[in-house]
Amino acid sequence: MIYFVTGNKGKFAEAQAILGEVVQKNIGYTEIQADGLEEVAIFGMKEVLERLDGPVMIEDAGMFIEGLNGFPGVYSAYVFDTVGNEGILRLMDGMEDRKAVFRSVVGYAEPGSDPVLFNGALRGEITQEPRGTGGFGYDPIFEVRGRTIAEMSLEEKNEISHRAVAIRALKEWLASRR
Ligand code: IMP
Repeated sequence: MIYFVTGNKGKFAEAQAILGEVVQKNIGYTEIQADGLEEVAIFGMKEVLERLDGPVMIEDAGMFIEGLNGFPGVYSAYVFDTVGNEGILRLMDGMEDRKAVFRSVVGYAEPGSDPVLFNGALRGEITQEPRGTGGFGYDPIFEVRGRTIAEMSLEEKNEISHRAVAIRALKEWLASRR
């Protein structure tokens, strides 16, 4: 069993569909304001390893919009909580270049061993309007091949998503050690 430290039910459901043996731990950890997702994950791993005994994982994600020089990026959670999808769409009003990328960093560690990190990315475009009711966060405004992620089932999202890529890399790494 792996403890996945997250308060986000959507993230947990996505991880569980891939890993199977995973338990959600909503105990919180400090998400430092850093320049990169890796730094956030490394700091977070140190903190959760002091509190949980057992295989543990965390995941940090962000949405990077090309035409906004990577914003909101590492500020994705704060921006979502303050201005949300409407705020992003307003900021991009009239912008032609709508390319964006979701990035995910998964941190994993077992007691007494160093944390390892796994990355995933998903390229897409920011829509003009929110569409769909699935997923969470920026999913309704992030389009891949004509559909927003919120218009996909969890299984469809897991075929392509940044988080699924990172979690599958963890899964393969775990299997390769057996
Ligand atoms: P964090 O990884 O929980 O810090 O996520 C940062 C922000 O990006 C939060 O507002 C999340 O809702 C959003 N976010 C993270 N992953 C996804 C995703 O897969 N789809 C849409 N939004 C996401």
